[in-house]
Amino acid sequence: MIQINKNILLLKPSATLAINQKVQTLRSNNVNVFHFGFGQSPFPIHESIVDALRDNAKNNYYLPTIGLETLRQNISEFLLKHQNIIADSNFIYIGPGSKDLLYQTMLVLESTFLIPKGSWVSYGPQINSTNGRYVILETDLESSFKLSSKTLKAYCKSNPNQQKTLILNSPNNPTGAVYTNKELEILAEVCRENDIIVLSDEIYSQINFNEDFSPSISKFYPEKTIVFGGLSKVFSAGGYRLGFMALPKELHFLHNTYRSIFSETFSAVSSPIQYAAIKAFKMEGDIKNYIKDCSIILKEVSNYITLKLKQVNIECTNSQGAFYIMIGFNNFKGQINALGIYTSEQLANYLLNNFKTALLPASDFYFPENELFFRLAFVDFDGQKVMRAYNNRPYINEDFLQKYCPNIFGGVNKILEFVMKLS
Ligand SMILES: Cc1ncc(COP(=O)(O)O)c(C=O)c1O
Repeated sequence: MIQINKNILLLKPSATLAINQKVQTLRSNNVNVFHFGFGQSPFPIHESIVDALRDNAKNNYYLPTIGLETLRQNISEFLLKHQNIIADSNFIYIGPGSKDLLYQTMLVLESTFLIPKGSWVSYGPQINSTNGRYVILETDLESSFKLSSKTLKAYCKSNPNQQKTLILNSPNNPTGAVYTNKELEILAEVCRENDIIVLSDEIYSQINFNEDFSPSISKFYPEKTIVFGGLSKVFSAGGYRLGFMALPKELHFLHNTYRSIFSETFSAVSSPIQYAAIKAFKMEGDIKNYIKDCSIILKEVSNYITLKLKQVNIECTNSQGAFYIMIGFNNFKGQINALGIYTSEQLANYLLNNFKTALLPASDFYFPENELFFRLAFVDFDGQKVMRAYNNRPYINEDFLQKYCPNIFGGVNKILEFVMKLS
């Protein structure tokens, strides 16, 4: 019998994947589905980045394992100017997506990983596959599922003798929540008192609805915060597969470890993509303005959905960035249970089958399965068309959304219809 690594065997396809596959099947059979499950930028990549990629298509050499020096310098300048983070370019590493760099970090660190309830779907399975250990820290709707310093402190008090690594993601997938400077400063204090390493996942940093970029815990806790970012969300280039991580001073000693593990796994990121990324991270005026416009459109879409859903007593997080709102039907639990539905996964399937609306169940985001929360991603629209319309008429109202984001408009109406039928 063939033996398989037991940590890998434990991995199972997430409900997220299953629902996305179901949507694809329905759509390929010409069924109109309102797809709130999909978490990818709807906007085209900026043309100047595509030009840079094209200009470098002939570059077929392996690049240095940790990435092109100019790119690492540009990212260092980008982090300073656009995220207020000081990062030495000698300790910035380029990888095939921040996902892979997070994974390699989980391999490197012998730690108990702390994950706030309401975090990205992949952290847990990644840790499991390295035979690591994680715990979920409690959060609540009132704070849009942001981790409180009180909860972190209490956990540290009961578990004093572990090396702990906190995974903090802001703007957040799945909640859209953005931590404030004050919240990060207080969390940083607890991290310092307890010698916690922080993995600060800032992949959505510039997709902030109120400011140009989102606060980073590394400002308050520079010594032990590893910052992660990349091209995927801010520059609408998920398929380019380029991410970075910046190691803080106290972890510089890991330099050779990372270099070795990268050289033994992915070798180096694709050369043309690294050259294109040099252009992106320069963040020249037109790219910066473009990202700003994308954020404004996303903000208007998010505000519209929140307004409509809250009017009928659906719970919503305060979405201030990224592509997401977490919504909840817990106020209708009795009626939903009467339908024979008890878990968020069951309800996600019910909504897809009966209302052709795809939402992702919160059980994939570390919630107990009977809490009826869902991740709603509001990117099911043609970003190019919407951007063109927005440039001609830079205000967005219900009519605009009905015309240019019909799946958002229609999907919201479907959710409202579901709730109306319950009462
Ligand atoms: C919170 C979060 N972190 C990290 C990633 C990984 O991004 P990438 O590997 O494309 O850089 C994603 C992608 O969906 C994400 O949502």
